[in-house]
Amino acid sequence: MLSLNGVFAGYGGGSVLQGVDLECGKQSITCIVGPNGAGKSTVLRVISGLLRPSKGEVSMDGEPIGHHAPDEILRKGITQVPQSHALFPAMSVHENVLMGGYLIRKDRKLLRERLDRVKDRVPIVAARAQEHAGNLSGGQRRMVEIARCLMLDPKVILLDEPSLGLDPRSLAGVADLIHELHQAGTTVLLVEQNVRLGLGLATHGVVMEGGKVRLTGTAAEIRDHPEISSLYLGGGAGPRVASGP
Ligand SMILES: Nc1ncnc2c1ncn2[C@@H]1O[C@H](COP(=O)(O)OP(=O)(O)O)[C@@H](O)[C@H]1O
Ligand SMILES: [Mg+2]
Repeated sequence: MLSLNGVFAGYGGGSVLQGVDLECGKQSITCIVGPNGAGKSTVLRVISGLLRPSKGEVSMDGEPIGHHAPDEILRKGITQVPQSHALFPAMSVHENVLMGGYLIRKDRKLLRERLDRVKDRVPIVAARAQEHAGNLSGGQRRMVEIARCLMLDPKVILLDEPSLGLDPRSLAGVADLIHELHQAGTTVLLVEQNVRLGLGLATHGVVMEGGKVRLTGTAAEIRDHPEISSLYLGGGAGPRVASGP
């Protein structure tokens, strides 16, 4: 469904991504893990069109999209949940969510249908509709950020560190929502520092280091990989991930 083939990309000072290959199957939850600076967020930026690959290709259902503008990528059904503090604090929850439907604003009926569906999926959107987004807790804001993206009924949803700064209860809420989206047929690609949570939620795992993919497999394979468990899952100072799959 979504794939990267030999992608190189950077910010002007040389390539951050050094030939990234990645496949996200339809209805999969893929979690990218890896140390800080590995290029995880950069992968999401390339997919959402904020950064163009200097080499290699990104494709969606076989169609090359690596050189599309961000709004065209959005129209293809790929949406990224922005990092935290992306809501307009002085606007209501309702208004914030409606902004997510900007591309379909002329179709009032569709907008209404989508809003109803989003309210079903994310109850806080109805429960706190008139509240200023700035008054919500971190966990509530994250739910509204995701809800806003759902207004476009995306095929692929990209999440960068959705657990960042959330308490355990909010974390569980976000995890449940991601799970429901997956059940409903959405392809999910997330980056997660909380490796246990991320791989626990995912169907597939990808380990990145130094702008390259070091390991791929099912989430269980990655979780049980000896170097991963020692690096990230409480095994102490284990060896660094050094070799490919
Ligand atoms: N806007 C930017 N401009 C220049 N360099 C950047 C920018 N964003 C990230 N980088 C660099 O790209 C590398 C990978 O960053 P990033 O993809 O954010 O890593 P990760 O998400 O895995 O922590 C880092 O060395 C970082 O310093
Ligand atoms: Mg990052």
